[in-house]
Amino acid sequence: MVIVTHCTAQAACRTHGGTAALRDLLRQATDRLREAGVEGPAREARRLWRHASFDIGARWGPGDVLPPTLVRRFRQFLAARERGVPLAYLTGHTGFLDFELWVGPGVLIPRPETEELAELGLSLLPAGRPVRCLDLGTGSGALALAVARAFPEASVLAVDTSTRALAYARRNVRALGLSGRVEVRRSDWYATVSGRFDLIVANPPYVRTEELATLPREIFDHEPRRALDGGPDGLCALEAVIAGLPAYLKPGGWAAIELGDGQGADAQRLANRAGLLVETSMVRDLRGKERFLQARWT
Ligand SMILES: C[S@@+](CC[C@H](N)C(=O)[O-])C[C@H]1O[C@@H](n2cnc3c(N)ncnc32)[C@H](O)[C@@H]1O
Repeated sequence: MVIVTHCTAQAACRTHGGTAALRDLLRQATDRLREAGVEGPAREARRLWRHASFDIGARWGPGDVLPPTLVRRFRQFLAARERGVPLAYLTGHTGFLDFELWVGPGVLIPRPETEELAELGLSLLPAGRPVRCLDLGTGSGALALAVARAFPEASVLAVDTSTRALAYARRNVRALGLSGRVEVRRSDWYATVSGRFDLIVANPPYVRTEELATLPREIFDHEPRRALDGGPDGLCALEAVIAGLPAYLKPGGWAAIELGDGQGADAQRLANRAGLLVETSMVRDLRGKERFLQARWT
């Protein structure tokens, strides 16, 4: 067994009468995560290990003996993951398109389908001229930041009602150096918004209230209810967002909005009711489900 130079045999962790080597630790962790129903348990065990050992500044080989404090730290993360705390809340960050976002309890972890929404929104914006974009219910700031990064001439307003989401969004805007072009503001949908926009993007809460308890525990127990709960029919937030489009889109401006499973017909009805929206269509996600409403204002 290789013993790393900065880790003495005395300082090494002794568990079950033996020293803890990384290989054994990861194997045990993988088994425990598998038993807890975590998908990709080996990959997650490695990511938890990387997170636990990251700021120690040392690299550990599979057979190295590990300091007990580090092993304890890793096991705390492991126990939290077994209880269903999302990996991204433990590591404090997640990837979105080609960038990283800070996330934690109180803010929704952006999903892969929302990356598709970002790409849809980007495809609707004209290149090479200053554009204004509005991100309703910004959460971590994922959509607002995707637009600002892809369009150097864009200015983006990102709104949310959640104090914790707003704090994460502001942190992410600063971390990506976009404070000059992305404003993060508290607003109940359009309540504090003025002016018109070339693009409005939104991933509103769209789960029916009574369905919330059927979501995986990892989501239901840990992610913010305000980010998920779309009211009794799942359409409350969607209705508010769509109803405001004619008053906040520039002529020719586009909206791209994420929907829940089976909400396509309702979204179309809400768009018809809002009036003056043209070229409304449902866009399917990569799994083939109607997932996004795309609409233009006359
Ligand atoms: C499904 S999450 C989307 C977060 C982020 N846009 C994303 O896609 O990862 C919905 C967001 O809407 C926010 N929200 C809920 N009600 C709101 C309201 N009345 N006005 C503004 N934002 C609201 C929630 O706090 C949450 O951040």
